[in-house]
Amino acid sequence: MLAPHVGTPGALLPMLHALQETFGCIDESAVPLLADTLNLSRAEVHGVIGFYHDFRRTRPGRHIIKVCRAEACQAVGAESLLDHVRRSLRVDDGGTTADDAFTLQVVYCLGNCALGPAVMIDETLHGRVTPARFDTLAAEQRE
Ligand code: FES
Repeated sequence: MLAPHVGTPGALLPMLHALQETFGCIDESAVPLLADTLNLSRAEVHGVIGFYHDFRRTRPGRHIIKVCRAEACQAVGAESLLDHVRRSLRVDDGGTTADDAFTLQVVYCLGNCALGPAVMIDETLHGRVTPARFDTLAAEQRE
């Protein structure tokens, strides 16, 4: 999984993506191995993981819920939707529900700006999401 990237310029990002795709997160134990393999410091590897919000340090829930908080969605109620999602799921941003069903991620634009507030659940994009519609979508995922 990682071997094809060794020795290629900019190998760290594709290696991190491959690890996350395989294991669901970037385990702390991978950091020194990546640093040694790519002749980087551990701080450099931590810096890249921390810079990109898509990289996770812990295993996510079974479903990833992304709520857009960028300007166009904010203009049509994204903040109140996000507050509702946090209360409904009882999680903070980046958190995972107690039953491991959902991980909440706040993102800045899902490319669905004309149909905000936008929410992505796993690979499916939803537009004009109201709190009630969010609850329905979340309930469907739990079935
Ligand atoms: Fe929300 Fe672009 S601003 S999808």
